[in-house]
Formats: sequence, C-alpha cells, structure tokens
Amino acid sequence: MSTAQSCPLPTVSLSKYLEEEGQNKNEESQLLKSSLPAENDCYTQAEDPVSDVPKYLLELGLTPECKQLISSLPAEKGWVANLLHQYQGFWHTTRQLQAVLTCQNHFQAQDTDILLVTTPKSGTTWLKAIVFALMNRVQYPNTDNNHPLLSENPHILVPFLEYGLYIDSQVPNFTTFTSPRLFATHLPLVSLPESATNSSCKLVYLCRNPKDTFVSLWHFTNKLRTKDMGSNSLEVTFDKFIRGVSLYGPFWDHVLRYWKESLENPERVLFLKYEEMKEQPKLQLMKLAQFLGCPFSNEEETRGAVDGIQKLCSFENLSNLEVNKTGKLASGEEYKAFFRRGEVGDAKNHLTPQIIQKLDQITEQKLHGYGLKF
Ligand code: A3P
Repeated sequence: MSTAQSCPLPTVSLSKYLEEEGQNKNEESQLLKSSLPAENDCYTQAEDPVSDVPKYLLELGLTPECKQLISSLPAEKGWVANLLHQYQGFWHTTRQLQAVLTCQNHFQAQDTDILLVTTPKSGTTWLKAIVFALMNRVQYPNTDNNHPLLSENPHILVPFLEYGLYIDSQVPNFTTFTSPRLFATHLPLVSLPESATNSSCKLVYLCRNPKDTFVSLWHFTNKLRTKDMGSNSLEVTFDKFIRGVSLYGPFWDHVLRYWKESLENPERVLFLKYEEMKEQPKLQLMKLAQFLGCPFSNEEETRGAVDGIQKLCSFENLSNLEVNKTGKLASGEEYKAFFRRGEVGDAKNHLTPQIIQKLDQITEQKLHGYGLKF
C-alpha cells in the first residue's frame, strides 16, 4: 500500500528506559535465548485439533524451548484458555507467548515503521482503521467506493505482530508491505522486540479508561469462551483484572510505561486516549496526522478530508459493513466481536458502585503523581 506522505524520522533510543527495566528483562532473556526456536524448527501445528477457540488461545503448537520457559514462569488460570503466564512482568496466554518470543527474536523493525500499540479493548480496531485511512489517503481517498476499509476488516489491513504475523511463522511474508509499514501490537514497552526499541520507528499508543476497558474485555472474553466453558462471572474476572492477571495486564503498568515514554520522547511516542478521540475526533485526527509526518493540508481540510476519514472509521460505519458483520479472522474471532457498543461510560451499566469505587481507587493509587488521569 502506498501512503499519503512519508518523512524522515528522528532517531530516539529507548535504552534508558530499558536499563531501568533491566533486571527483570535480563534474567528472562537469558532463559529466552535458550528457549527460542532454532531457525528451521517448526511448530507442531499438526497437534492443533479443530476447535472453536481462536488459535492464539490454544495451548498446543509450542516449541520444546517455549515449554521449558513456561515451566519457569508464574502461571494463573486464564479468562478463556487454561493458563496465563507472567513474562517480563505481563500476562500472556500460552500460545500467544510463543508468538511473543518468536516476534522478539525475529522481527526486524525499520526506522520508518509505525507501531500502533494498545491495551486490549481500548479501541485497537478503530485506531487501525484511522491510521490506515490517514496514511493511505492519497491512494484511497475516503470518498473512494473501493476503499479497502469498506471490504476488509481493519485487523487484516493492519496486522498484529504477535497475533497475526508471528503466531504461525518465524518468517512472515512482508513482501506486500511498502514503507512506511504499519503494524499493531499489544506488547508492553519492556517486551517490544529489540529491533523496534533500537530503531526510530514511531509508536502510537492508545488506551482507554480502565472501567470501560475491563467491561469490554469481560464481554469479549466471554464471547470467546465455548459453550462448554460457559461465561465467566464479572466478580471472578474483576478480581483477576485488579490483580493485573488479564491479557497483557497489569493494565496500569502497561499504560504508565508508555505514558512516561511519551513524555520523555514525544517525537517518538504519541499517547492517545479513547475518550479524547470520542470527544474531539477531528482534533485527535489532526494531531495524529501531524505526528505521523503527514499533516492535513489546508486544501484537504477545506474539502472535508478530516471529517471524511472520521466518518469512514466511525463505529456506526464500520460496524454496519457487511464484511464486519459476517467475516472472521483466520484465528477464529468473528469481526463483529470487535464492535460492541463503542461508547464512553458503558461500564456504569454493568459495574456496581462498589466495583466502580474500587477501580477508581486503584487507578488513583497507581497513577498518582504521574500526571495521567482517566
Ligand atoms: P466496547 O466493548 O466498549 O463496545 P479493540 O478494538 O481494542 O478490541 O476494542 C474494542 C472496543 O472498541 C469495543 O468497545 C468496540 O465496540 C470499540 N470500537 C470498535 N470500533 C470502534 C470505532 N470505530 N469507534 C469507537 N469504538 C470502537
């Protein structure tokens, strides 16, 4: 895909941050070295049974080295699959952890890459659509009846590193990408592949208030559970969430680390909030375009290109497209699972005042003094 514009990007190192994080990461990366698959090892895909559970939730298809690493990591019962494993301070499903390791070992970032980083359920699908539309607006104006977003789900147009690209393969096919390449990830800062950390690729980070994030995650994971599994109660998942035991949790650590990084390296990391995107979409879009080096021209603004992209990527538009109503990812999730209500404040329809108070309290404690509020 060609993009609207591309500009040279400044080189910024994240090494200072990683020095501080070092202890945890170094110990694990020693283990990791021995746990990574050799170049020609292949996963035991044949072990995978036919299943309704998405591939990344399966606990099969692991290399022996990954199994060895996993045996040394703290584990807890997961929200959908059996186990979550704590790696570099954050929680991953078994199969996804294999993909994280492969990605860390094999991904070669380019300085012009753009990584969209999110906590799960904070609006990743929306951000993917927006940045895709922004970056490709010369080739695909929002008025184009053949715009790729009308016939493809945003998760196909902007793949996840660790879910999509590295879930099955050590050598994903990058030949269809043109510079600047667009990828997404839920990886915490400490777990980004070294090549990304050391390159000057740009990171767009999107998060959402923890109450709506939690409620969205609770609904989403219940949709992923098979009939046999039944639903998880809100109380059980809430207990896990506040202990940090959720996909890529602890939520607060994930957010805070990128927040700090965005303050230290604002030209490298743009920090966005779902609520602000909802409240002032035009302003946030323009900020995003500026950050990515492809600001809207006066002429574009006058002819309504900003509003056009906003409408194209709106919840109403995307969720009503045939492709998003009927399609599903190769890994098994239905596209419609990524579009539920798309509102700010839905948590109050599901959480008791006590739970809301508790979450607010934890958020206040964790973020106090850092200038970040939800
Ligand atoms: P809700 O469950 O609160 O409705 P992710 O894409 O990170 O998985 O996040 C999914 C959440 O983003 C869901 O929230 C979903 O409805 C919402 N969402 C999806 N597309 C959106 C859009 N275009 N605009 C706003 N919110 C969107």
